[in-house]
Amino acid sequence: MRAGTRHLPLFFSCLELASAFFKVPCSTPLVVERADPIVDPGLAAGHVHTIMGGSGFGFTMDYNQTQESQCSSCSPKADKSNYWIPTLYYQAENGSFTQVPQNGGALIYYLQRPDPNNDTILAPPKDLRMVAGSPYDRKYKDTPEADARSYACLDYDGPAREETNGLPNYNCPDGLRSQVFFPSCWDGVNYDSPDHRSHMAYPETYNGGACPASHPVKIVSIFIEVIWRTEYFEDMWYGDSQPFLFSNGDPTGYGFHGDFVNGWDVDILQEAINTCDDEGGDIEKCAVLALYEDTFTSGCILEPSIDEKVTGWLDALPGCNPVQAGPEDAKPIKDCGAPTEIGKPQHYYTDVTGELEWAWIGCTRDNVDGQRVLSEASSSGDDMTVQKCIRACEADEYTYAGVEYARECYCGNSIDSANEPAVAPMG
Ligand SMILES: *[C@@H]1O[C@H](CO)[C@@H](O)[C@H](O)[C@H]1NC(C)=O
Ligand SMILES: *[C@@H]1O[C@H](CO)[C@@H](O)[C@H](O)[C@H]1NC(C)=O
Ligand SMILES: *[C@@H]1O[C@H](CO)[C@@H](O)[C@H](O)[C@H]1NC(C)=O
Repeated sequence: MRAGTRHLPLFFSCLELASAFFKVPCSTPLVVERADPIVDPGLAAGHVHTIMGGSGFGFTMDYNQTQESQCSSCSPKADKSNYWIPTLYYQAENGSFTQVPQNGGALIYYLQRPDPNNDTILAPPKDLRMVAGSPYDRKYKDTPEADARSYACLDYDGPAREETNGLPNYNCPDGLRSQVFFPSCWDGVNYDSPDHRSHMAYPETYNGGACPASHPVKIVSIFIEVIWRTEYFEDMWYGDSQPFLFSNGDPTGYGFHGDFVNGWDVDILQEAINTCDDEGGDIEKCAVLALYEDTFTSGCILEPSIDEKVTGWLDALPGCNPVQAGPEDAKPIKDCGAPTEIGKPQHYYTDVTGELEWAWIGCTRDNVDGQRVLSEASSSGDDMTVQKCIRACEADEYTYAGVEYARECYCGNSIDSANEPAVAPMG
């Protein structure tokens, strides 16, 4: 009797899982720069990417490097993967470009879509990496790979618009969501391939159906959504066509693509795939996945290492990316004089501690549960600077100085190990 009653729920839970999923929030990009360790390992990449995930990201990287992440811009503690897509720009009538701001970072869906012939859905193996879509496409091609990329024009008050495969030619009042499905059928042997695609395949449709015999292993379907604030440019349209284009010189949107380097704790992800059964995709209902708080993920910022401007007004897209509108495939352009060197990480801040013969040790969270990290002396004022704070703490012979909210200065002689400052997250 007991065995019978225990089997029934198991059977039901299989059916439920088929439509279950969980959404991994990434609160901010980790870094925006010309990096692509899959396609251009060790080099400055062809175009700018918006990169999410673990701070172990680098110009060359493997699974082990993901595991060295000190933080991630995505929430699950077990996910140190990196996800990236090309960056969206606006082109003004005078030809200049500027980045379109994002709404958050990304939302990454892990969808438990089984193969109709086999219920087993695997976590991607440790060293798996893959690319979805081609940056050279400039027209819709009737393939699962083309269908896997789409746009949702967000308008929370208006009538729903159908999703499109190219960039829509109308304003989206609540932003434009670009989205891409990764292939979910693996050849079971190779973790990568020369074109970074052929070790993977789409099932019958881009998001469901049976895997081809050549790629029989069904892995969890990964789907990325990124929202761009195109509505900020509503009053800046001109001419007959929409003014946005991706960093790969693509004004059509068909050349959108996504990249994934696995950095999951594979056992935990497998358990999440086997047990997370929420049909609304709420990751908080996925007991096996412990999550970082948003204050932690949004403080996870990596310093860029290529000495070039990718934000503000630009005369050209970074790299060699003249606008190529198609419909024929775009041609890769090389040797246009763009920087090729990977330099030292460029600070987002100016480190003035050295000139005062102090040393910068990092950022930390303060005032958690009313507890100050540096509690022995404090001062404040609208004219506060890092220099002024250091001098004040030094005058009273304190070892540590810290500035908060640009106007508060704290001094102390010890730091609790729970609040150890770190270079990452920058916070
Ligand atoms: C990655 O780390 C594992 C475990 O520490 C080690 O056995 C393996 O050799 C490393 N792989 C590479 C490519 O360094
Ligand atoms: C081009 O137009 C934009 C938008 O009007 C403006 O902000 C920018 O400064 C202009 N760039 C040049 C080089 O004139
Ligand atoms: C189902 O897929 C798993 C993982 O790829 C494989 O090990 C297993 O043999 C497959 N089962 C059947 C009945 O094909």
